[in-house]
Amino acid sequence: MSDKELSKIGLGTWKMGGEINANPNNDDNKDIEAILYAINNGINHIDTSESYADGKSEEIIGEALKKIKREDVFISTKVREWNLAYNNIIKSCHDSLRRLQVDYIDLYYIHKQNPNVSIKEICKGLNYLLDEGVIHYVGLSNVGIQTIKKYNKYLKQKVFAVQNQYNLVCRESQKKKVIDYCRKNNIKFISWRPIMLSYPGAKEPFYPTGTFPILDNIARKYNKSNIQIAVKWLTQQSNIYIVFKSNNISHIKEILNTENFELTKDDWEILNKDFPVKFNKGCTANEFFEIS
Ligand SMILES: NC(=O)c1ccc[n+]([C@@H]2O[C@H](COP(=O)([O-])OP(=O)(O)OC[C@H]3O[C@@H](n4cnc5c(N)ncnc54)[C@H](OP(=O)(O)O)[C@@H]3O)[C@@H](O)[C@H]2O)c1
Repeated sequence: MSDKELSKIGLGTWKMGGEINANPNNDDNKDIEAILYAINNGINHIDTSESYADGKSEEIIGEALKKIKREDVFISTKVREWNLAYNNIIKSCHDSLRRLQVDYIDLYYIHKQNPNVSIKEICKGLNYLLDEGVIHYVGLSNVGIQTIKKYNKYLKQKVFAVQNQYNLVCRESQKKKVIDYCRKNNIKFISWRPIMLSYPGAKEPFYPTGTFPILDNIARKYNKSNIQIAVKWLTQQSNIYIVFKSNNISHIKEILNTENFELTKDDWEILNKDFPVKFNKGCTANEFFEIS
């Protein structure tokens, strides 16, 4: 569905199928059911990477896709930073196609930058894949403005999306004006880890009541959970899309419910200005590589 409107809420799949490696004991059916529930309830954007569970996340999506029309879903996946040389990127993409069991990928991201491979060479590989028709759009992840500009110099089709960490707590993309730049230049900005306040490795808490009075007060006012307010703060912004992960249907419902209300301009602004963003544990400031 490359030419259709992307849903503001997308489903991420990091930790479906395993973590860094595939987990042989993973409950694949639970992941597949969550993906299908999301798709059948208005989420048309599924995000993965060749690195998630070492490819198993893509395989799980491939299984789920058998139960729906391929063209109804926008699939994004990513190539790892050490597979960016011309031949490697082509091989990686074809491996992803095989695992996803599709003949095209809607959006193909460079997951992270690698200073040892030139952007010119990476773009040669991407242009080949665009010509082949096996990828429809190119995306960049964890990048700043200068890097986006360099890719645009060599790509035959301008960068379609940028996927950076962005949430109430982690504002590096806001600070570095990446969000403004994407908005002005018609590049979709996809926020990763939209709801997880805790730093990597922490299981709990996620914006627990009692931690941030400012969030508690607004949640109480709208009769919503803190997570719903945190998500709404993102999705209410123009050109901001999110990919959140869940394989729990009630959690997916909770996130989808954020489509049923709006924050007032004042409340949005209070969160924007006064939420204590200086708490930045788990925010990936140094993953914003600018490649020369
Ligand atoms: N480009 C990159 O470098 C990059 C890096 C990281 C992530 N990503 C992408 O972004 C996606 C999202 O990031 P993420 O998975 O790290 O973090 P996230 O979506 O912010 O948080 C996921 C966690 O929140 C839980 N959760 C979801 N909805 C919930 C709810 N309503 N109530 C309570 N808990 C809830 C999930 O558990 P349950 O499954 O139990 O609901 C999961 O543990 C990833 O899946 C991936 O696709 C990209």
